[in-house]
Amino acid sequence: MKISVIGCGYLGATHSACMSSLGFQVVGVDTDQSRVNLLSQGELPFYEPGLDTLLASQIKTGRLTFTTDFAAAADADVHFICVGTPQSKDGLAADLTFVKSAITAIAPYLKDGALVVGKSTVPVGTAQALREILSTSAPQADLAWNPEFLREGFAVEDTLTPNRLVVGVVNDRAENILKEVYKPIIDLGTPWIRADLPTSELVKVAANSFLATKISFINAMAEVCEAAGGDVTVLAKAIGYDPRIGSRFLQAGIGFGGGCLPKDIRAFMARAEELGADQALEFLREIDAINLRARQRVIDVVRADLSEDLTQYKIAILGATFKPDSDDVRDSPALDIAAQLEAAGATIVVHDPKGIEPARKRFPHLDFAEKVTDCVKGSDAILHLTEWKEYRELDPSVIGQLVKSKFLIDGRNALDREKWRTAGWRVHALGRTD
Ligand code: UDX
Repeated sequence: MKISVIGCGYLGATHSACMSSLGFQVVGVDTDQSRVNLLSQGELPFYEPGLDTLLASQIKTGRLTFTTDFAAAADADVHFICVGTPQSKDGLAADLTFVKSAITAIAPYLKDGALVVGKSTVPVGTAQALREILSTSAPQADLAWNPEFLREGFAVEDTLTPNRLVVGVVNDRAENILKEVYKPIIDLGTPWIRADLPTSELVKVAANSFLATKISFINAMAEVCEAAGGDVTVLAKAIGYDPRIGSRFLQAGIGFGGGCLPKDIRAFMARAEELGADQALEFLREIDAINLRARQRVIDVVRADLSEDLTQYKIAILGATFKPDSDDVRDSPALDIAAQLEAAGATIVVHDPKGIEPARKRFPHLDFAEKVTDCVKGSDAILHLTEWKEYRELDPSVIGQLVKSKFLIDGRNALDREKWRTAGWRVHALGRTD
């Protein structure tokens, strides 16, 4: 069986390397020539632990190639659509331009019996609409949906050993083809869920909405803890022991960002409104609001502690990416806070182990430091905003000698507060009053 992967960004690059590692002949197609050049040399255009070595090893086997030419995918049996669906510029809905153009571009090359498999996160109803388009432009082909649930930082693991496989199909043939593709993964005992097209699309946005809700729930509890004199980290630990609740995704802090959770809950609300089911998802508006408020709360703490007027203050920001082990700065809470403080007149210096270049592209006016020691030098406050391991390993006494004032805000509740306090620091952690 030969596979094509259309769109070689984060999802597509991972999927193509992983499918090749299962033994398939894989061609990755992307319209970006420089991306194709890099991937063809076995190099990643972004940072993802483990994917770099997997990609390089798969290129060497000769099974994995990349191209800008859709014709190269003509002999593939299965075509995975892995293009992005970002938030539209003019509203909450998802922008489907890339999905539609991928389908249009591949349609003339689909061979008899080819199966197009959407992996991109789309508004419910998209798969059915695309299937109808294909039924006239390429009636010899079929379409299925197969949402992905991979987390950045764990992309390879989540693709090769996912906790479930979900396929949206309208006939047994499509399901059987996908069973053949995923056989090695199914053989590991991975749960297999067959759904109709709309349910398969909904599974993805429902999962992300639930995760976003968990995070905003604990951040709402953090607000209440701050008001009532409690400690949200103890609260999270205590409720997390209840298996019905579970301890994961209850890390209170500056909230969620990235290329998925924020835009997916917004697109879900927009789609529900179109369907006349907007009331059902009204709560997601609050989830989004709590999430954005977490960023504001850090700024409020800075102002309350330093001054309303921040023009005389230097603030060191530790972390630019939306989460550790990634260089992704899309909708990063850390960078958003940095940019807002800079706009308020503070002198800002940002450090990140992997995200400085992408962050600089997004916010060229911010100052960046390659070393933590340069970032914190002479600062009036340090804001720990992305929980990289490197930051947990910092020696508070050494850092204390470089700063102007030993004031730390832990926006991720991930640092050892006692260690910093023992070294003479004032520490403010979100959702913890003492
Ligand atoms: C998410 C989903 O987890 C994944 O299944 C889906 O396929 C894509 O979207 P990802 O964007 O990689 O994955 O990030 P995730 O690990 O879910 O974290 C999202 C954000 O939530 C990060 O900014 C993270 O810092 C934040 N977060 C996570 C918290 O603030 N608290 C938590 O307890 C967990």
